[in-house]
Amino acid sequence: MALADQLDRILITEAQLQSRIRELADAISADYAGETPLLVSVLKGAVYFLADLSRAISIPIAMDFMAITSYGPEQGASGAVRLIKDLDEEISSRHVLLVEDIIDTGLTAAYLLRILGARDPASLRICTLLDKTARRIVDTLPIRYRGFEVPDVFVVGYGLDYRQLYRNLPFIGVLRPDLVAAAP
Ligand code: IMP
Repeated sequence: MALADQLDRILITEAQLQSRIRELADAISADYAGETPLLVSVLKGAVYFLADLSRAISIPIAMDFMAITSYGPEQGASGAVRLIKDLDEEISSRHVLLVEDIIDTGLTAAYLLRILGARDPASLRICTLLDKTARRIVDTLPIRYRGFEVPDVFVVGYGLDYRQLYRNLPFIGVLRPDLVAAAP
């Protein structure tokens, strides 16, 4: 089945993504002027967003990556989060911006903030492309930059996967509900 036939609809087009990302990058460039923030991302979902966001930022930045297991192979299996790859860089006294693809319940972000916060960064904020507020459990997250609020549907594309597929779609789409095995 062609990728396009597996989608219910396109939620955010490529043009909408790129124009919003430029706005976020402008805000980050202004807010961190005079600093060299460290953009920290989680593999693999946020990689497309980070690549476009970082290229639109006009101040010097560094970047680093973590890898975790969250959600398991199926959506909805939220719970334990495990660190698979830690950062390469020290973050003490640095301005750290956690770049996320999507914040859903907020449990993953809360876990990451605990780890990063314990290392005494000069500041620690979140930039998320998508915010699924309807399912939020942790509501104290320092989300400083937010691309789009999305409804409570399972979205794929632009880095976001379902069973490791669909990441390479250049837009955000809603997967056909009959193709999603487990209910959220
Ligand atoms: P949270 O801990 O519930 O906030 O979940 C965050 C993680 O769940 C994200 O980094 C994604 O990997 C995954 N996730 C949540 N919602 C979606 C979705 O609609 N599509 C794809 N992945 C999702």
